[in-house]
Amino acid sequence: MAKQPSFKCTECGATHTKWSGRCEACGAWNSIIEETPLSSGPGKKSLGNARGRTLELSDLSTKDDPPKRTISGVNELDRVLGGGLVDASAILLGGDPGIGKSTLLLQAAARFARNGMDVVYVSGEEASQQIRMRAQRLGLEESPVKLAAETNLRDILTTLDKSRPELVIIDSIQTMWADSVDSAPGSVSQVRAACHELVTFAKKRGTSVIIVGHVTKEGAIAGPRVVEHMVDTVLYFEGERGHQFRILRAVKNRFGPADEIGVFEMTGRGLAEVKNPSALFLSDRDRPAPGSVVFSGIEGTRPMLTEIQALVAPSPHSQARRTVVGLDGQRLATILAVLEARCGIPFAGLDVYLNVAGGMRVNEPAADLAVACALLSAREDHALPADTVVFGEISLSGALRAVTQAENRLKEASKLGFASAITPVLKKLPKVDGMSLRQTDDLVTVVNEIFGAE
Ligand code: TYD
Ligand code: MG
Repeated sequence: MAKQPSFKCTECGATHTKWSGRCEACGAWNSIIEETPLSSGPGKKSLGNARGRTLELSDLSTKDDPPKRTISGVNELDRVLGGGLVDASAILLGGDPGIGKSTLLLQAAARFARNGMDVVYVSGEEASQQIRMRAQRLGLEESPVKLAAETNLRDILTTLDKSRPELVIIDSIQTMWADSVDSAPGSVSQVRAACHELVTFAKKRGTSVIIVGHVTKEGAIAGPRVVEHMVDTVLYFEGERGHQFRILRAVKNRFGPADEIGVFEMTGRGLAEVKNPSALFLSDRDRPAPGSVVFSGIEGTRPMLTEIQALVAPSPHSQARRTVVGLDGQRLATILAVLEARCGIPFAGLDVYLNVAGGMRVNEPAADLAVACALLSAREDHALPADTVVFGEISLSGALRAVTQAENRLKEASKLGFASAITPVLKKLPKVDGMSLRQTDDLVTVVNEIFGAE
């Protein structure tokens, strides 16, 4: 029987039976391309009829040693990896072009090499000379990292098979070309085939591989999402253009917690670790300012303070604007609805702008109360004292719900000189010295007693 052609979205990886201009799964335009199968398979016979090898089954209780890890010494990276790089693991590092992936990995490669690891850096994007120039700029030219500028995967794997390094960095997966697949480098089939080969090599030879994948907006090149399922760990390197801060975020990790973040700063001499991110994400806060509220959040395993800023102004348009940066727009809509329906504070006819300072992104529901306070503070032109932090989840009824790790949130705030906190009613009174707590169980009380709004 002739093989049915199959079509794949280069953005989200969804499979379609026919080509169309827009992917129904993710809504991207011009992202669907025809794809050739990864391999033709072992034979035409159904798998159930052909005889295979008998597998050895093991018990759940079988004891294994914990995976061996190597520390790079870059704390922000080691923590995101779950405590160092696991032997023979496959890691995908995604991010926008130009965000600093090559810089981060060259710096990490140099640190691993200096710790005695055998490291090979393969670039399909830059010539070896360019990488050496970058290394000089970063002050890493003496590091024993081996370089190759190549895109032919067969040649790369042959070389690696001979030298058997402990860590290989592939920059980037979109430039790699596996000659077993006849489509252009960067297409979904090429990216998947190349990633499959690299991951198989890693597992077979006990080499760790870190694969760079550019996040792409156009459909011509496949993004990292099409290979996320093949690797052990998926990291994304993010940052706002115009800000020097970069956040390394784990979104999947078979060897550690997901959702852990590492914070870096892009300087003239490469990426520097940020040891105290809370201080960094708070803009100048000497004077109380209406619309500005400090949220005490948890990112992965760490507490982190961020400043949430709101601006509320009469709208000149028939439809009022809602502009959000660094928070979820749906969440803002929900909080506005709760303020209106449960507390009688209307926002109709008012433009609302909401922003997290410093280019940080906040995903926690625990930020609800801080967002509501920022909105109220901006609307009523009533600033909270500059030494106040806020956290708590708001339910649709307008009740405030307790959140996890209240004590850690308060401790971090206290460490940075904050003296008071607005929180939901806490089940266990945290032991934090010198912090005055204002515990409330519903949003109406916050509206009336703290902001005196009508
Ligand atoms: P790069 O690592 O090449 O990004 P990616 O691999 O994700 O595409 O980073 C490129 C940007 O980083 C570029 O705009 C210049 C900037 N940069 C610095 O600011 N300082 C430095 O020391 C280096 C090496 C790069
Ligand atoms: Mg690069």
